[in-house]
Amino acid sequence: MSQNHEATSLRDSLCGSVSVANVGRRLTVCGWVAKRREHGEHLAFLDLRDHSGILQAVVEGSVDVRSEYVVRITGTVSHRPEGTVNERLATGEVELTECSVEILAAAEPPPFQLDERIDVDEQVRLRHRFLDLRRDTMQRNLRLRAAVNRSLRKAMDLQGFCEVETPLLWAPTPEGAREFVVPSRLHPGEFYVLPQSPQIAKQLLMVGGFDRYYQIARCLRDEDLRADRQFEFTQLDLEASFVTQDDILGFVSEAVLDAAEAATGARPGPIGSMTWAQALDLYGTDKPDLRFAMVLQDLSAVFAATQVKAFGATTVKALRVPGGATFTRSRLDQLTDQAKSLGAKGLAWFRITSEGLDSPLARFLNEAEATAIASVDGAEVGDLVLIVADEYALACKVLGTLRVTLGSPPVSEGPHHYVWVTEFPMFEGVDEDGNLMAAHHPFTMPHPDDYDLIETDPLSVRSQAYDLVLNGWELGSGSVRIHRADIQSRIFKALGISDEEAESRFGFLLGAFKFGAPPHAGFAFGIDRLVAIFAGEENIREVIAFPKTQSGADLMTGAPKSITERQIRDLRLKMAPKGS
Ligand code: AMO
Repeated sequence: MSQNHEATSLRDSLCGSVSVANVGRRLTVCGWVAKRREHGEHLAFLDLRDHSGILQAVVEGSVDVRSEYVVRITGTVSHRPEGTVNERLATGEVELTECSVEILAAAEPPPFQLDERIDVDEQVRLRHRFLDLRRDTMQRNLRLRAAVNRSLRKAMDLQGFCEVETPLLWAPTPEGAREFVVPSRLHPGEFYVLPQSPQIAKQLLMVGGFDRYYQIARCLRDEDLRADRQFEFTQLDLEASFVTQDDILGFVSEAVLDAAEAATGARPGPIGSMTWAQALDLYGTDKPDLRFAMVLQDLSAVFAATQVKAFGATTVKALRVPGGATFTRSRLDQLTDQAKSLGAKGLAWFRITSEGLDSPLARFLNEAEATAIASVDGAEVGDLVLIVADEYALACKVLGTLRVTLGSPPVSEGPHHYVWVTEFPMFEGVDEDGNLMAAHHPFTMPHPDDYDLIETDPLSVRSQAYDLVLNGWELGSGSVRIHRADIQSRIFKALGISDEEAESRFGFLLGAFKFGAPPHAGFAFGIDRLVAIFAGEENIREVIAFPKTQSGADLMTGAPKSITERQIRDLRLKMAPKGS
């Protein structure tokens, strides 16, 4: 194989790699005409673009090329004349002269200018994604993604993991999102399900003796799209046998830190951890953004016998907002509205001034209460303290959300703060039939100290499930799995899953376990999310070549689309009238 990745049969150099070191050499480059400027009647300057950068070519005589024409130019690398050096361009000191230009393909004028400095409507960009991809940012983002994938593969390989591909046409998986279904032509009336993740397949691989499996896996979930959610996304998915939670945390940390090093050039320090209960208590969320301080403080004990009616609740939680004393009344009203929309009855605020607390509630406080508020989280004059009094989880959640609203820097800013969150609860709330719901999935192993609570106090059972969080985004989740039939059946019972239902939904997995299931555990994290944060992008669409819009459409292909009568007949489908 050639050592020079740039050279092909049609060119010997890339535009962006030409420099003063090449002056005097004759080179051939290929690419798109980014810009054409006339200089008199018989001299034109062409900016030639390929994925590596832009190179100026000085063309004499008439040449019929316009923006985005594909050309091949052979010319001599020359110093630019004095005063014409372009500092903003990597190749700004040189240009190609004595050029011959061959047109490889003509091009119609593009529907938008492919210039990084011009803000183009995203709908237009997505309709013509193939052009949008020529832009520098998209080139950088997708190449960053490739570098991350490369380093992940290498890290997994070095840790002894074997890459195995699992099917896309599959049966339901237990992740809980709505599934995409695919009608079967050969089995009319029956359907495949596109996998929400390779969860069951990878557990079967453990039964199959693979010991350490990984995959850069496409997953599909029919859920509402948001900045960090697409229908199709990619996980680094892994599973290992004869391991504990700590082993998995070690494998994943190694892969993520390697990817961070490949993406940013610097290897972050070891990843710390906190329990789910600590995360909720201090940050009001299971996805704490540790780029900024601002921790919640519990004032319940101080307010246990308070005369202030608004604070007569089981929990009184406080949040200090540095410098927040300057907030206007309308800003405070906005925050109150946000708190109410999250379920709080209200939001109390206290400005800390040199004269004491400034708040409509200040005169109702006794001295101990006022002192406690004035010193929340090391508060100082000029700060604001927000208080929510309510049931514990709600008070934490409301202040946790306000904390992010008030303190969270943009994705593109701040250091990268990774944290493991462990000991998630086993169950979260109940569904409409009154059955407990699994917080992760029904194959998650309870914490060994809590086995006895499964039947008596299920909502306080901790699990061996863990998340990796980066700057307030849930990067990934995993758990130690249940490999013992007795514990599995107790969990199914707690979830209200009958033996018949378990058999029909997961029968093949449970059946496989009867033939010798090793203790195993695993994890999966979203590569789209990881790369978006590395690239400083707020939306994962910016790191996906062909993403869907918020409403799930692909503007370029027009998908989803109707299918032909013939396809409908073959699949034995019957269409309901539109809008019914
Ligand atoms: P979970 O459902 O938590 O776990 O998914 C793991 C990670 O996948 C990413 N992710 C998404 N990214 C983009 N768009 C989406 N719609 C989307 N949904 C999920 C997130 C998330 O943290 N099988 C388990 C893992 C395991 O237990 O091994 C699973 O899929 O970054």
